[in-house]
Amino acid sequence: MGGMAVKVLPRRTSRSDGLGTLHAIFEEISALEKCEGCVGAVQLQTYGLVGEYFWIATEFAEGGSLSKWRQERAEEEVGEKVFLKVWGKVCRAVAELHKRGVVHHDLKSENILLRHLDFDRNDCVCVCDMGEATLKGEGGGVLRARGTECIQSPEVITIVERNRVEGVGYDRRKESEPNEYSDVWQLGCVRWR
Ligand SMILES: Nc1ncnc2c1ncn2[C@@H]1O[C@H](COP(=O)(O)OP(=O)(O)OP(=O)(O)O)[C@@H](O)[C@H]1O
Ligand SMILES: [Mg+2]
Repeated sequence: MGGMAVKVLPRRTSRSDGLGTLHAIFEEISALEKCEGCVGAVQLQTYGLVGEYFWIATEFAEGGSLSKWRQERAEEEVGEKVFLKVWGKVCRAVAELHKRGVVHHDLKSENILLRHLDFDRNDCVCVCDMGEATLKGEGGGVLRARGTECIQSPEVITIVERNRVEGVGYDRRKESEPNEYSDVWQLGCVRWR
């Protein structure tokens, strides 16, 4: 136990101005703050700014990502039974996020961490990387594509398509609310990715 993971993000990226990046980082920190005390979410410790970089410190999950755990094992060792046990914990973790009003939008095994490998305990799994998350009831619908392309839910793909066809000036009343069903779709994809 113990230890800290520090995520470092440049203040500006080539894709966006400083303000856009600031907004994205603020959203990520807000989502982490909403999940304070949730067993199913990586726990925020502190955050700050040094020179051209923001940093976010969270608890360190010793077991690494679910992706790494899977890669390091033969298919037989992971097995359907073991996998479903872990997956059940992932679903429970995501339900906790939803209770706090956080929709993750990028649920894939790289963003699911293992605190330890005792899969009988409820605290073995936590979700990290809130960089694509939206907060329910805090204004704005899902206006842009969120999450990794191949695991996007049909409703997110619809938004992407609508943006492409109607351009940025489309009628904002037609926005979709960020909703947890997209996460449920992605939970299904976690079996494969
Ligand atoms: N708290 C943590 N404990 C242990 N490992 C972590 C922790 N947070 C992140 N990681 C590892 O670092 C990886 C990247 O972190 P994260 O998903 O937050 O950043 P990202 O923005 O997706 O970065 P990338 O561009 O590399 O995908 C995760 O997939 C995971 O393997
Ligand atoms: Mg990630």
